[in-house]
This record gives sequence, structure tokens and C-alpha cells, in this order.
Amino acid sequence: MSLRPTQPSDAADKRISIEQIAATPITIGGRLLSTRFFLAPLAGYTQLAFRLVLRRTGGLGLATTDLVLASMLWSERPKSMDLVQTCPEDRPLSVQIFGGETIHLVKAARWLKEHGYEAIDINMGCPMAKVNSSGGGARLMCNVDGAVTMVSRVLEAVDLPVTVKMRLGWDSSAITAPELAAAFENIGVAAVTIHGRTRSQGFHGTVNRDAIRDTVRAVQSMPIIANGDVRTPADAISMMKETGCAAVAIGRGAMLDPWIFRRIQSHLNGDTIPFEPSRDEQIDFLVTHFTLMAQQHDDFACLMFRKFAAWYGARLGIPEDLENRLRRFESFAEFDQIVEQIRRRHGERQCEIPTALIKVPNGPVEHW
Ligand SMILES: Cc1cc2nc3c(=O)[nH]c(=O)nc-3n(C[C@H](O)[C@H](O)[C@H](O)COP(=O)(O)O)c2cc1C
Repeated sequence: MSLRPTQPSDAADKRISIEQIAATPITIGGRLLSTRFFLAPLAGYTQLAFRLVLRRTGGLGLATTDLVLASMLWSERPKSMDLVQTCPEDRPLSVQIFGGETIHLVKAARWLKEHGYEAIDINMGCPMAKVNSSGGGARLMCNVDGAVTMVSRVLEAVDLPVTVKMRLGWDSSAITAPELAAAFENIGVAAVTIHGRTRSQGFHGTVNRDAIRDTVRAVQSMPIIANGDVRTPADAISMMKETGCAAVAIGRGAMLDPWIFRRIQSHLNGDTIPFEPSRDEQIDFLVTHFTLMAQQHDDFACLMFRKFAAWYGARLGIPEDLENRLRRFESFAEFDQIVEQIRRRHGERQCEIPTALIKVPNGPVEHW
């Protein structure tokens, strides 16, 4: 029996359906990942507490930390140390680093290896001006040779799996993702994640699945992880069908619906009754999220949790007065009181969960 992991190309001759492939594990950089559905990093949201509570809901194959500035990581600045906080339950994990200078990326990669981290993701997709002006993020996609040299130095420096997360290119006249992905495969990059927008699109417009498919076709066997606008199990499966990608990364969709990974598994299992979290499961999610945050940040968690108030308010149908209290609470005791009220009054308010709750930069992309 072949032990080769099933790849989307196997579907081409119809021996096996995309759903069957989607339901199999995948190996990336020597790590066996139990599902092909990953958490895309959302800086400020996808930190340790959120990753852990999400893992406990089930179905998540891989998570990645928020982006960490490489120079701040190897020099062990407190904020960076916070961003790479992890624990045995927080596996499998990749740490995402960014920067415009190779030396810093190499030093950060060595630091991660020395401190026992298992995998490195290099950010080539961030559209923010302060990241791009120092040559990092999506700016790296403008210089294919430079980006390949940079990544090859990181690969030479550490024997850890290295992946790259990028966009389609800088703008519609510079779609460099296929060329970059092919070159990365040649130097030994373990996988590439493609957010199907250009840098100049920011978060506007629709994800270009055709362009993701072109990138899939540009590589031989390196897994391409498709990303962008996946909000439901049906979106995840159609992303695989339309692009031929090996795996799917979900960012905002996991904030809007933290049970999405579990739902995808339920969908792939062919469950006749699709998974739906009970009222108590939803509230327990909120409580566990805060408790894990408090374990890491003590009282400061009260402040940190406030940014999730609007989202939980909409997600759990929390009455507005309680949502407001969640936005202002100052102690663990107060949190407990609010939760007690939420349990009693859950469902009083019905709301849609707009994507707008997760803030993305606004205005012309040049000003971000
Ligand atoms: C608030 C926010 C923070 C983000 N932070 C990161 C990050 O740290 N690293 C990264 O590679 N992408 C980051 N992204 C991009 C997402 O990972 C993802 O590529 C993008 O949101 C599209 O996927 P989605 O529609 O599933 O969210 C961020 C996006 C948002 C909205």
C-alpha cells in the first residue's frame, strides 16, 4: 500500500473525489496534520488563548501565530515573546516572521530552532505601509530573485520546515505568485499559502480563485494552501475544487464562526444533522477563551478581552447592556457576573454577524 499522501491531482482521473481528499490528513514539511483546514493568522486575534479554544472545538489542522517582526524576535523584545507564547496543547503550530532584511529573518529562524519551535512561516502578504516600507510583507513579492535568495538563506540556516504566506502579487500587473511558488518549491519550501488578492486590493474585491489555481499549476507537488473569504464548509470544499489546492486556510471565517473547522469535518463525515454548537457550548467557548487569556496575562486579560465584546455580542446574541459591560469590565469577579447574566438572558437578541466586526484597514491602500 502506498504511503504517499493523497494530493488534489489524484482527483484529476476521477479515482477519488475532492471530498475524499479533503477528508484525509496531509503531511507538510514532515509533519502529519490531521486535517487540511488551517487557521490563517489574524494579528491581534489569533493569539494563544484563541488558538487553544479553537483547537478544543475540533477539526483544526494547523495554526500560525500572528506576524512577529524578525528583529524583535531574536532580540527577545517583550511584545514578541508574548506573540510566540505557546504550550504543548498548541500544536501543530507555525511561527510567522516578517522583515525586509535577510539577516534578521535568519537570526529569528535560528532563535526559533534553539527555542524548540517546530515550523516557520515567512510573511510575504502583509499590505501595511509600515511593513512594506521596510521591504517586508507583500513588498517582497516585487523582487522574485531577492525573495528567493532571502528564503533560501533561512532554509540554509535551520532544519525546520519553512513555509511562505503571500498574496497574488503587488497589483494586477504584477502577479508573481506562480513564479515565486515554483521557485520556492525548487529551493525546498514546504508549502505556500496564497491569499487570493493582490496587495493593491487590500481586503476589497473578491478572491481570485483562477489565479490561485494558476499557482497550484505552477508547482509540481508542493502543497498550496488557498486562502480568502472562506466562511462555510461549502466555501472550503469549493475552494479545493476550483483551485486544486491541497489545503485551505481560514482567517476571518474562524472568528465569525469558531466552529467552522468542526463543521467542515461534520460535512466531510456526511453527518445527516450538520454540527451546531449548543447554547451552553457557545457560552463555554467565551468563558474558556477569557480563562485562557487570564492564565497568560492575569488582570490585563480584562482589558485585552474587551476587543472581542462586539464580536461575542453579535455571535452569541448577547443583550446590548451586557455587551457594553463586557466592553468595560475590570475584574474577574465582574466577568463572572456578566457571564451569569449571559447564561440567563442568552438569545434575547438576534443578530447577523457582519464581517465588518473584524476591522480591516480602510481607505486607499497606499495610506495603510
Ligand atoms: C485583522 C487582520 C489581521 C491579519 N493579520 C495577519 C498576520 O499577522 N499575518 C498574515 O499572514 N496575514 C494576516 N492577515 C491576513 C489573513 O491571514 C488572511 O490572509 C486574510 O484575512 C484573508 O483570509 P480570510 O478571508 O479567511 O480572513 C490578517 C487579516 C486581518 C483581517
